[in-house]
Amino acid sequence: MKASISKKATVFKNTKSPVREIMDLASPQFFQQAGLNPDEVISFSGGWVNHEAPGELRMAYADIIHDPHRFHQSGAYPPSIGMPECRRAIVDFEKHLYDPEMELNPENIAIGCNSSQMTFNLMHILLDPGDTILLPDPSYCNYPSQVSSLEGVKISYFPVLNVEEWRYVADEKIEEFALHIRREKPKVILLCAPDNPTSQIPSTAFVAAALEAAREIGSFLVIDFAYKALVFEDTLPDYFSWGPNDNYISIHSNSKWCRGLGRRLGWVEAPVRIVEALEAIQGSSILCPDTLHQMALTVYIDNGIANDRIQPYIRQTKKLYQAAAQQTVRAIETYLKLPCLIPQGGLYTVLRTDIESSVFTREVLKNTGVIVVPGWGFGETLQQAVRLSYGPLVNDLDRIEEAMKRMGAFLNRKGWRMGISPR
Ligand SMILES: Cc1ncc(COP(=O)(O)O)c(C=O)c1O
Repeated sequence: MKASISKKATVFKNTKSPVREIMDLASPQFFQQAGLNPDEVISFSGGWVNHEAPGELRMAYADIIHDPHRFHQSGAYPPSIGMPECRRAIVDFEKHLYDPEMELNPENIAIGCNSSQMTFNLMHILLDPGDTILLPDPSYCNYPSQVSSLEGVKISYFPVLNVEEWRYVADEKIEEFALHIRREKPKVILLCAPDNPTSQIPSTAFVAAALEAAREIGSFLVIDFAYKALVFEDTLPDYFSWGPNDNYISIHSNSKWCRGLGRRLGWVEAPVRIVEALEAIQGSSILCPDTLHQMALTVYIDNGIANDRIQPYIRQTKKLYQAAAQQTVRAIETYLKLPCLIPQGGLYTVLRTDIESSVFTREVLKNTGVIVVPGWGFGETLQQAVRLSYGPLVNDLDRIEEAMKRMGAFLNRKGWRMGISPR
């Protein structure tokens, strides 16, 4: 008799994701059926960056690889929550970029394989059956599936988008948000800054109100900082330099800022008892993070701080994505005339379509060869909206223009812009 896999795994396997939906759709067979030339397809679906990694980081890897002793060292298991020197370097990096006075010590740092894995493990540490996790609506489509295997955990949503006016309204709802937390008593409040999919940045007032309410009811405010280094304005919110405390934890990644997507490391900044819990759970789930990436990152951070090479690199990187964001918004306004959010950082904008998001996505792909991500998986507010990522096109701004031209011509033919007033 064939053995069955667990019910949990089956649920997990059958959980749809909007990114998977579009990836399944964007297949060679579909292109052939629709008469699309794969070379002419333009994709806004990937949540990834496409700028060059720092040259000094590449050299740090090269030096390790060319040194037989250090290369041998990089083949050893590190401790379950990371090498002490890398945990120390991460503290230096945070203080260097955000605030020398930040209350952060190496014992507050747990390093893992990447922030997705660490979020998954962290949620298993923080949540019990019957607990609630509070997410803004919209929010990153991976969060619900990261807690879906936790039996009896409920998700509560708080809308931060005014769909009628297509505005991010978190700041207008600070009191309501704090009230919602006090009433619903979520064990975890999970925010993202800059956010995926909106690329908006919750204000310090919003985050501080959430933390105060979290303190009062004994819960955790968790911020996912996957895009922390990609903020377009020079002035950063105060909470970017908060250290962890009993009710505040942050999650970080080297995927986006230094194009480490395929050389991933993640880390969590948390009180020591949470770091110890992560040590235990990682000991069983991943055993330990990658050594080579930690060694290279440590050298890059140490030398980069000493020679003041990190800040200029990040400034230059931010400019690239800001230019791509501006080009995307300009092209949307020119050719689509549909409401979209102006990105404050990160890689995305969301576009109101007033057409069910999967139908819109499918029709646009079939007729224009442009790939966007249906909004349904990000929350109720994006049922009739799509997410566009300009990250992969950061070096191809002309293609952004070309894609919007094609989409605009199609929407005109379809009459799909009727009744939608531009912002
Ligand atoms: C909000 C958010 N968090 C986390 C991640 C994944 O980060 P990592 O590569 O460290 O797993 C992504 C990736 O797109 C993301 O958008």
